[in-house]
Amino acid sequence: MEVDRRVFLGTLGAGTLALMSSEDKAEALEHYMEGKLDTEVAARDGTEPVLYMPDGEAIALAELQEENPRPPRGVGNLFRPRATEFAPMSDKPTLVEFFEKRFAPANHVLQSAAHAMETGQPERTIFACLMHDVVLNLVKVDHGEWGAQLIEPYVEERISWGIRYHAPLRFYPDESVGYEYPEMYNRIFGEDYEPEPYIRRAADHAKAHRYYMEARLITLNDTYAFEEGKVVTLDPFIDIIGRNFKQPPEGLGFDDSPVDHMWRTIANPNRPL
Ligand SMILES: [Fe+2]
Ligand SMILES: [Fe+2]
Repeated sequence: MEVDRRVFLGTLGAGTLALMSSEDKAEALEHYMEGKLDTEVAARDGTEPVLYMPDGEAIALAELQEENPRPPRGVGNLFRPRATEFAPMSDKPTLVEFFEKRFAPANHVLQSAAHAMETGQPERTIFACLMHDVVLNLVKVDHGEWGAQLIEPYVEERISWGIRYHAPLRFYPDESVGYEYPEMYNRIFGEDYEPEPYIRRAADHAKAHRYYMEARLITLNDTYAFEEGKVVTLDPFIDIIGRNFKQPPEGLGFDDSPVDHMWRTIANPNRPL
């Protein structure tokens, strides 16, 4: 069976990042597709992608997607269809409140921060791990840059720098710290997947930078943070947040910072304007 990877990735749109995060795997169609990627997705005539069912029947992907309408894959978790109302935010929301009311359960970032803590890594790394993917609630496309910007005014430079570059560095192994290319990426993208040139440039820049290890440690802890059934609470990190995040007294979203709109958007996903 011939698989045209270009056509296949094209059907996923900009969702490559989303495919890598466990948070996004709940969606039924994606779940189904992911299990089939190795051999069963093919492109008929190079243009019309099909999914081969277990009995060998080929169904056009477009047809499946029509039956399972979904928002673009790069949309943040808060902007997906949901069954419950958003908990109202206080007048002066803190980062902890955002964790409780907008980022929860935040299992993946909590697990990665817990791994950093258990292995005795610096406190700023623990905090960076705690924050490294929270922006996926707002937007998934280019989540390294978005995630760094979201917290830049409130943290020391090395923390936001690390978050910015953890995204491109995920694709490049570093044996010196035991970071291997994640096997999951081979399964999802295929063994010959080459990140786009802008990702490669960002990774090269990061590798040559004096802060390199700030981002590299995030990628390392990342790989230990997809454990099913493991629940980590925010409690062990409350003091670390206090020491590493300059909470604006006016509340996040109301401090007239260059990123206050991002916090307001997370606080109010229902606002039409
Ligand atoms: Fe990430
Ligand atoms: Fe992550």
